Amino acid sequence: MSEIKTSSTQATKKRVKHRNGAGNRPLPPGPQGYLLLKLSALQHRPIEYLSSLWWEYGDLVRLPIMPGFTMFFAVHPEAAEHILSQHPDRYVKPDFFLKPMGLVQGKGLFSSEGEYWRKQRRLMQPAFQQKQLVNLQAVMLHCVEELLRDWESKPDGEVFDIAPAMTQLTLKILGLTLFSIDISEESNRLGQALRTALEYVYYRLNNPLALATWILTPRNLKFHQAKQTLDEIVLEIVRSRRQNPIDRPDLLSILLTCRDEETGEGMSDRELQDEIITLINAGHETTATTLTWTWYLLGSHPDIMAKMQDEIQTVLHGSPPTLESLPQLQYTRQVFDESIRFCPAGLAMAPRVALEDDEIQGYFIPKGATFIIGAYFTWRHPEFWDNPEQFNPDRFLPECADRRPKFAYLPFGAGPHTCIGKNYALIESITILAAIVQRFHIELLRNQTIEIDPRFTLRPKYGIQVTARKRH
Ligand code: HEM
Repeated sequence: MSEIKTSSTQATKKRVKHRNGAGNRPLPPGPQGYLLLKLSALQHRPIEYLSSLWWEYGDLVRLPIMPGFTMFFAVHPEAAEHILSQHPDRYVKPDFFLKPMGLVQGKGLFSSEGEYWRKQRRLMQPAFQQKQLVNLQAVMLHCVEELLRDWESKPDGEVFDIAPAMTQLTLKILGLTLFSIDISEESNRLGQALRTALEYVYYRLNNPLALATWILTPRNLKFHQAKQTLDEIVLEIVRSRRQNPIDRPDLLSILLTCRDEETGEGMSDRELQDEIITLINAGHETTATTLTWTWYLLGSHPDIMAKMQDEIQTVLHGSPPTLESLPQLQYTRQVFDESIRFCPAGLAMAPRVALEDDEIQGYFIPKGATFIIGAYFTWRHPEFWDNPEQFNPDRFLPECADRRPKFAYLPFGAGPHTCIGKNYALIESITILAAIVQRFHIELLRNQTIEIDPRFTLRPKYGIQVTARKRH
């Protein structure tokens, strides 16, 4: 993996101040001229390209892309706090992000803004409260135990790619906890349609000049068919559950009964359809990617793996992890937190655009400025992290974490758009890690090429080849 060198002090020296005349506050520094031709570097080598800009210009960089469109790259926690938490009313997700995401997720939480988003968020919040998640942990554990039975039947020492294994596991958990249906099998129509539709969204996000969706190219047609299948299946699940309510401890049961405190109304079938597709999308790939990187990092740090195994043995004494025992697995949680810091599933938060002129860190921010909030870089900022290129779970010991500014580490975002699935993801991830480490020793295949695929979630480009050896 590429080593990211950073130096905010060196960067500060290079700053060239541009004044815009509005109160004579300077614009953030950045390269001269338009960067349209460099967009491909931003798309294909974003880590290297953004690192070089950070190195050269500092924690807030102005990137004039073309006339009328300027992006700002923000690394300092102060900028994340200002945009996401202090003034979320001044910054919204821009259309160039909402529209492609909305092609699959409709007006679901991730791809909507304003009053509609607020109403939906209010309605959905109760489904993700800790007390509702109690029953779901048993389902999560059941799914991981099934996977372990499958591993037990493999010939000892068999090499396999753990990336698709984690994707299949988290998709299975999501389908079962959301609406009590397993959608993880290759042959499952919903799963297939989802994969095709998401591939298309990644394509459109990376190719903003792609032909309009209504032009009947083979790619567009394939997408429309997949989206139709997705909508039909999800709508059918919602309708049949509404007609025949069954007592299932899944999220759909709760979502169907949620009522708006102000109006007393629940969600329509169409609204539920968008939210379910959003949850399937937002809720499995991020967790799968994070877990995959965690196995890679544990495999390359046997001492940390051994310490984690000791903790799991001491706390669980061979029993399966339960909701009550999860909080005691403190080191396992530190490993998970450090894995997200070191190899996050995403490079940045969803982009945000300024609705009005503003000021961040003493710089003038014009209305229309579009922000890349570079979480990957903030979590390596040398002002807040010692040896940021070292994988070290001890930096998440409570006494170390307390010394850092709160916004130096935002694995689940911040402010009103903060991840609705945070508790779900934590319960799921720690359950999976503990159950697997308890029974198997994961070893990395030597001399494999490990590279980040920077399209959308930061997946390992060639997967992670491992062996899972049964512990005796
Ligand atoms: C390790 C796993 C996960 C990570 C690292 C993660 C991270 C995030 C982050 C950073 C955001 C905020 C993005 C922004 O403001 O730009 C977010 C939003 C969101 N996440 Fe997660 N997430 C994870 C798992 C989940 C799960 C399991 C679910 C659902 C079951 C979920 C559902 C959502 C939704 C619906 C939003 C949009 C919330 C809104 O805008 O109101 N996430 N997530």
